[in-house]
Amino acid sequence: MAIGRRSFLGTLGAGAALAPAFATAESGSLDGVGSAARGQLPRTLAEVRDAFVFSESTIPMNAANLCPSPRIVASSVATYTQDINQDCSFQNRDKFQQTLETTRRSVAALLGVSADTVALVRNTSEANNVINNGIDLATGDEVVLWAENHPTNYVAWQVRAARFDFSVKVVQLPAAPSDIQQLLDPFSNAFTARTRVLAVSQVSNISGLALPLAELVTIAHARGIHVHVDGAQTWGIIAQDLNELGVDSYTASAHKWYMGPKEVGLLYVHPSAIPRIWPGVVASGWGTSIKGDSVGARRFESLGQRDDAALAALGVAAQMHAQLGAPAIQARARQLASRLKEGLLEAGAQLVTPLAAQFSAGVCVARVEAPNRAELFDRLYREHGIAGAPTGGLRLCPHIYNTDEHIDRAIAGVAALRHLLA
Ligand SMILES: Cc1ncc(COP(=O)(O)O)c(C=O)c1O
Repeated sequence: MAIGRRSFLGTLGAGAALAPAFATAESGSLDGVGSAARGQLPRTLAEVRDAFVFSESTIPMNAANLCPSPRIVASSVATYTQDINQDCSFQNRDKFQQTLETTRRSVAALLGVSADTVALVRNTSEANNVINNGIDLATGDEVVLWAENHPTNYVAWQVRAARFDFSVKVVQLPAAPSDIQQLLDPFSNAFTARTRVLAVSQVSNISGLALPLAELVTIAHARGIHVHVDGAQTWGIIAQDLNELGVDSYTASAHKWYMGPKEVGLLYVHPSAIPRIWPGVVASGWGTSIKGDSVGARRFESLGQRDDAALAALGVAAQMHAQLGAPAIQARARQLASRLKEGLLEAGAQLVTPLAAQFSAGVCVARVEAPNRAELFDRLYREHGIAGAPTGGLRLCPHIYNTDEHIDRAIAGVAALRHLLA
């Protein structure tokens, strides 16, 4: 059996000989690894735009898919990578174990949960698949999904159902709800005594509709149903406490609204659910017993050699969130989304995404039928410098690095191209 890095170092007794001054994400200092061009953490929302390197001629408005990282996060990845390339010995790299735990604590604290419930995986896709591959389900069991789930939380369940003979029910919701009951009843009506799992996106990446999650959890838990939440469209934009929400599992990607490093993701699993979920991958470091050596949700991140630099840089992104404050980030992102949606309406667009904050977050979608959608999306980028997405219509997802002027430019661009809105 391959020997894990920790046990290898244990046998060498190498821990004591490590370079002493490795930066932790908590301290935010990169001293000891090199600090070239690392940039500063933005201390206030007003400083955020300048912390990013994107040009004013290509404005990112696609946070639902991929966010730029601030200079300090990107340069941390580069600096840590260089450190590894300068000395890739076990001795030099052992410090990343400590940084990983610091990062895990920072990320967990911001979500109101304990570090032992958080696995730092590669992305939402992987994390969703840990859940849909890892929960024991038998013939006759049912899983209830929302029709707007991402494929990794939809098709992935269907593929697994084809193999293990449980059934999948898909719930459709009204596009323009006037009260939350209209979003709750279709789920309540779908639940039966055989329902084991409810798996939903918290916010749809197609329509931008946000579910009343706390109420949904209450209804599902009254029936003993595991609630799995794809938080790809909420981590890093919605201020929330997962412990208070009571979800059983929650997944997200750092490269979306969190503005973190690429290909780093989050899997939260409630302590009571951890022993019930089988890991998707068992790799070096797992241990020799069936249960593995790792504590809590760490058992879901036994993924072989990782990108230690990217994982460490997630800690820097977490520090930015702590510095700015989740409520302030949410408030500003909502302000930008409201300005955008109201402006799009004035420009003659119809919204797919509800206007009300209660039913939406940062994803804003305007109705554009398929023949014109690709052209509108493309010309908005080429002629107006706004990088959106042709997903569900014209999807524009501004975040705190966007300014009011960016929003107004997007609105003016859509107004200039309004003949394509049909
Ligand atoms: C709701 C949702 N879930 C999952 C994903 C997949 O994210 P990733 O590609 O980072 O794994 C996306 C991507 O846009 C998404 O919108």
